[in-house]
Amino acid sequence: MESQSCCTGTAVPENLDMDRPNGSRLYNYFLGGTSYLPVDRDAGEAITRAAPHWALGARLTRTFARRAVQTMAAAGIDQFLDLGSGIGAGGSVHELARLVTPDARAVYIHHEPIAYELSRELIGEDPYAAVLKLDISDPDAVLNHPVTRGLIDFDRPVGVLVVGGFVFVPDEAGPAELLLRYRAALAPGSYLALSQVSDDSAHAEVSAELEWVRKRYAATSSPLHVRPRTEVASWFDGMELVEPGLVRYGRWRPEFPLTAAQLRCDYGYVGLGRVVGNR
Ligand SMILES: C[S@@+](CC[C@H](N)C(=O)[O-])C[C@H]1O[C@@H](n2cnc3c(N)ncnc32)[C@H](O)[C@@H]1O
Repeated sequence: MESQSCCTGTAVPENLDMDRPNGSRLYNYFLGGTSYLPVDRDAGEAITRAAPHWALGARLTRTFARRAVQTMAAAGIDQFLDLGSGIGAGGSVHELARLVTPDARAVYIHHEPIAYELSRELIGEDPYAAVLKLDISDPDAVLNHPVTRGLIDFDRPVGVLVVGGFVFVPDEAGPAELLLRYRAALAPGSYLALSQVSDDSAHAEVSAELEWVRKRYAATSSPLHVRPRTEVASWFDGMELVEPGLVRYGRWRPEFPLTAAQLRCDYGYVGLGRVVGNR
């Protein structure tokens, strides 16, 4: 692995596809992390040159995840399920939640080998956090895993995050049905934080960039799946959307005024929903 900063101290996982870029490691590259392979860096540099909004979008997505965790924690959520947790950069869910509730728990689900190994290292011996190498398209495996059941009490509200995860889940896997299966396990008062890429930008240059990025990702091990706002909104059916609702990247409770570039970065939506009613 040329990029020694990738996985310093971490054994290179067996069966790792080192020849093709991967969405998880590319995301880390765009966030300014160090956990990617040379092939990811080369693809990341090419994407950033042709589509500068893409890296900005990754950072705005991560910012949303942080604010959503803080909002859920402030509302009393102390157990989290992070579906498609990625390679930690900019604060893990349990670290952020523990600023509010010191013994907050989190289970991270990831299927990419480097992300899994790095998450394991980050978590170390922490008894209240765990990462499982599972596919988020298999809710039964995730929800019924003994580690999940040991850390999360599904009789109490849970904070679920699907931040960027469904971007890599194909239509055949049925994202809406998957979400319903996860939601069926959640007690009222639980939350869902979600982000999704959409191709309805108001800006021609952003649409053109996204089309270019899609083609580039099609050659990686993780093609992108772009979905219209109506579909993303339907994933929150039966939930209460927390203010300001389902909005463009960067516009979910921004902590500082958005720059002109951030305002134009509108190829995706983010939202936080609260589960109401009975299971
Ligand atoms: C865009 S990244 C976002 C990471 C993280 N949620 C965050 O907000 O920083 C999406 C992550 O989901 C992971 N992922 C995609 N499909 C997955 C699947 N079927 N099962 C598990 N993880 C998946 C990807 O590898 C990637 O790391």
